[in-house]
Amino acid sequence: MNLWYQFLWVIFPYLALVTFVLGHVYRYAYDQYGWTPKSSQILERRLLMWGVLLFHWGFLFVFGGHVMGLLVPIGVYRSLGVSDYNYHILSLWVGAAVGAVALIGILLLNLRRWFIPRIRRNTDWMRFATDALLLLVIVLGMAATVGYRIYVNQYDLPAEFEYRENIAPWFRSLFYFSPNPELMLEVPLIFQLHTLSAFVLFALWPFSSLVHVFSVPLGYLRRSHVQYRSSNPRASLDRERTQKANKRPPAVEQSRRGE
Ligand code: HEM
Repeated sequence: MNLWYQFLWVIFPYLALVTFVLGHVYRYAYDQYGWTPKSSQILERRLLMWGVLLFHWGFLFVFGGHVMGLLVPIGVYRSLGVSDYNYHILSLWVGAAVGAVALIGILLLNLRRWFIPRIRRNTDWMRFATDALLLLVIVLGMAATVGYRIYVNQYDLPAEFEYRENIAPWFRSLFYFSPNPELMLEVPLIFQLHTLSAFVLFALWPFSSLVHVFSVPLGYLRRSHVQYRSSNPRASLDRERTQKANKRPPAVEQSRRGE
């Protein structure tokens, strides 16, 4: 194994993961007020709504698929009686569908940022970089899932590339602190590019607005409602009464006055 491979599949991933962890600690310690997705809803709503909805829902399921494929060892599926063929059919169709939803979402968000001048002017370079990188990672992921299968069919190569026997154990080996870069030697280029681009994303993550992932307001689901009260209740009551009176149909007004 040459030094280049050691760098790509051991040193670089660890550098990215350490930057990811320490970067978040640093950001939390020194920039809690900047810990936000920095919404641009005030500048444009419609594309944002569709982009955010599609990207977040798509990504949630893509994330679930990665947990199933990368963190759960292949032996678990085999012992449960899930054949490799069935696993791949499921991962192809479901993976492609949810990946396409995430892809359309992130594409809309990127287009909105590049082509609406007032959003472009209010976007910093880190936001451009991470949004574009998300797009790239997802395009490469789709190329690995769908494109590689088309390529395999065209050239009559063995039907499936079993990433649960190389990428997945390599990925887990990083977390056991016993990295096994040899596993990545035979992995097709498109899967390698997808994985490396994801690690670049992880390294930039803590310095971008992506930190908001770790502050999803789940507490909102359980807490009681917050009531907003006026600092001048009499004035608000008067205002409310005036508004109501203005909306009341004329016939009612007349009968109240006894006319
Ligand atoms: C080190 C991290 C990652 C590894 C090792 C990895 C690995 C993989 C593999 C092996 C596939 C092919 C799955 C198949 O053919 O069934 C895939 C697909 C995909 N990946 Fe990743 N991935 C990583 C991170 C990410 C991230 C951060 C994103 C999103 C931003 C992402 C988005 C996708 C998408 C959209 C697909 C295609 C749809 C799917 O199969 O879910 N991946 N990835």
